[in-house]
Amino acid sequence: MAPRLSRLLRRLFTLLAAGLLLLLPAARGAPTAAPVIPVRVLLPAPFYDATVGALSDFRRSHPGLDIELVRGPLDTDTIADLAVGSLLLGEAPYDVLMVDITWTPLFAAAGWLEPLEPLVGEGVLEAMEPGARAGNAFDGHLWRLPFSGDTGLLYWRTDLMARPPRTTEELVSISRDLQRQGKVRWGYLWQGRQYEGLSCVMLEAIHAFGGRWWNPALGRTELERPAAIKAAALLDGLVRDGISPAAVAGFAENEALQVFAAGEAAFLRNWPYAWKVIEQGGGPVVGHVGVAPVVVAPGQEAGGTLGTWGFALLRGSPHPREAAAAIRWLTGPEMQRRLAVEQGYAPTWTALYEDPQLQKAAPLLKAQRAALAAGPLLRPLTPLYAQLSDVLQRQINGMITGQTAPAAAMAGAQQRSEAVVRAMTGAGG
Ligand code: GLC
Repeated sequence: MAPRLSRLLRRLFTLLAAGLLLLLPAARGAPTAAPVIPVRVLLPAPFYDATVGALSDFRRSHPGLDIELVRGPLDTDTIADLAVGSLLLGEAPYDVLMVDITWTPLFAAAGWLEPLEPLVGEGVLEAMEPGARAGNAFDGHLWRLPFSGDTGLLYWRTDLMARPPRTTEELVSISRDLQRQGKVRWGYLWQGRQYEGLSCVMLEAIHAFGGRWWNPALGRTELERPAAIKAAALLDGLVRDGISPAAVAGFAENEALQVFAAGEAAFLRNWPYAWKVIEQGGGPVVGHVGVAPVVVAPGQEAGGTLGTWGFALLRGSPHPREAAAAIRWLTGPEMQRRLAVEQGYAPTWTALYEDPQLQKAAPLLKAQRAALAAGPLLRPLTPLYAQLSDVLQRQINGMITGQTAPAAAMAGAQQRSEAVVRAMTGAGG
């Protein structure tokens, strides 16, 4: 070999060796560091977007653990289908599932969830607002920890009235007056699409007439009763009389919100998140939006439907302890404080409602706490819920699109609900 070439090769080798030496500590360090345990969590898109930015805090405070968020579809029905599909196949690729309040009884009864109390302690809910505790335990076990204490709220225009309505009659008459004066195109916007949001609206309407959807003691629905028929007639009348647009029959939360944010209506029924979206949207109603409890029974101050999503541990997760730590963190006070400020979500922890700094940063806190304190309305807590809700949505949506009259719609809803209960339990009249 020519001496020049050999010198060159030697230099190259030296450089390579030096480079390798530089790399060595990292390469040597990797196998000895404890492996990172990933906790996989499926959650709806808006909650993914709201939480993903905070994950670096978790990684810092939980060395050796990681949370991998999986961004699911937007609405509750679609994500339920996705979750149930993989659970039925017995191979859900997640450790933790974010569940809507109404899914818990079914998921627990199906044996898909692991009880949480051995992992997080018995008394964990006691530091939460009483109204936010519901829907997490079933059959003597704790199945999920709630992420928020959201209830249905009535959004009203502070530039068009001095105070929000206290009864449905008032809501209708204020709407009519404002429409007559040409101040708004529509009175009241709500969710009328055939989906879960419509069941929430109908639950609130039934309670506004002093009735209820579900009688837990008898395990039957009460949709044939006068209160439920009056509730159906109220929704039907809103559309027939042009207080609500016929388009509500296709509205979910977001469609209703957009029309309200554009300044076209006096009232909107929605969840706490809507306030931030409206305020940040920069539209004509910014600074003119008040929030009140949804009108329930006349003369009675009461909250709307209890929404709330929470985190549940899937049976068969290879690392339940780590998953429980992730659930604690995802539902913990720091996360909820952040979500209250950034997203306007209602916290569950009492200490957050009492924190003066947070009260300043999250102006809806007072109204949210009042709605929770008033005893928010629960949808039927039964494993049959998905079928019962489906029946109700179909009947009400059919009615507001003009296919049936209110009394017939509710007679049909009651009959079909009884058939659901009978088919599943052999009872129900
Ligand atoms: C919100 C509520 C949830 C409800 C859904 C209906 O996400 O938190 O409980 O089922 O709206 O659209």
